Amino acid sequence: MIDLTVRIGSLILENPVMPGSGTFAEGMERVIDVDRLGAIVAKTITPDIRHGNPQPRLTEVVGGMLSSIGIPSKGPDYFCAETVPFYARFKPPLIASISASSVEAFGKLAARLNTPGIAAIEVNLSCPNLEVNGRAFAMFPEATRDAIRHIKESTDRPVWAKLTPNVGDITEIAVAAHEGGADALVVANALLGMAIDVTTFRPKLGNVMGGVTGAAMKPVILRMVYQCAQAVPLPIIGCGGISSINDAVEYMLAGATAVQVGTANFIHPTTMIDIIDALPEFLRRHGLTRVTDLIGTMRANEAADPSWAAVG
Ligand SMILES: Cc1cc2nc3c(=O)[nH]c(=O)nc-3n(C[C@H](O)[C@H](O)[C@H](O)COP(=O)(O)O)c2cc1C
Repeated sequence: MIDLTVRIGSLILENPVMPGSGTFAEGMERVIDVDRLGAIVAKTITPDIRHGNPQPRLTEVVGGMLSSIGIPSKGPDYFCAETVPFYARFKPPLIASISASSVEAFGKLAARLNTPGIAAIEVNLSCPNLEVNGRAFAMFPEATRDAIRHIKESTDRPVWAKLTPNVGDITEIAVAAHEGGADALVVANALLGMAIDVTTFRPKLGNVMGGVTGAAMKPVILRMVYQCAQAVPLPIIGCGGISSINDAVEYMLAGATAVQVGTANFIHPTTMIDIIDALPEFLRRHGLTRVTDLIGTMRANEAADPSWAAVG
């Protein structure tokens, strides 16, 4: 018997596979059996109604996608009245994702979500901190610590801190999230990038810059998961460029307890189910009985000096 269950803090998931926030929505139940997922992660909501960024919001890049959606949000009232009841019909726990522009607003929004049907709160820390410098919370340890601490004081739900990869040292932010009381880390959101149309000389995105997601980012985020797993004793949910069983396993070997699939959902909407289906056979082939046996079991090359990895 193969055991696919994983534990993220106090939450036990049937398996380690779930969607990345914003890449899954109502309607997916017509394409996949949503009950098979380890969890459902909703699109980020903000305290206010937001319409999102100017068009175009999406373009393809080699190995992935570049997007600047700008978190269009119908706000917490709609979320609690419509989205939460909609997902209540499915078995996997619902993870709400929140974003706000101040520590105070983060706390208020988290408190507003103290409603049945929400199993955990994922904190999208990639949004601008308007009270300080307008840069993303997760670019600074203090802002990360303050936001997570305030959210923890405002809710009794488990709190997952979703980090940005747009930092020099991700472990400083991971440590700050841990100090703030995060129950888990999600590593990570999109890599900041841009693309220009050389026929029109115009940026390909209405917002000029956007987030690179998909296969192109996988080695970068895998490295960050590995670093975070060494730095903090928290469960880590790896997210970046996962589109196959091998990608998911790689993340778990690097130290992730679970994984999120984003861009691949747009390419093959069955990707998450395909990974869940393939996991038992993968484990059997390697003589393992529990998916947790994979976590952090990469066989490190003892001769390698990680400090040289970045300089070639
Ligand atoms: C179209 C799109 C919308 C997204 N919206 C959100 C969002 O609302 N909140 C969030 O935290 N991340 C959002 N993300 C980021 C994903 O959840 C994920 O972190 C990122 O895409 C990396 O995973 P991937 O390479 O598997 O796509 C979005 C990504 C895409 C492509």
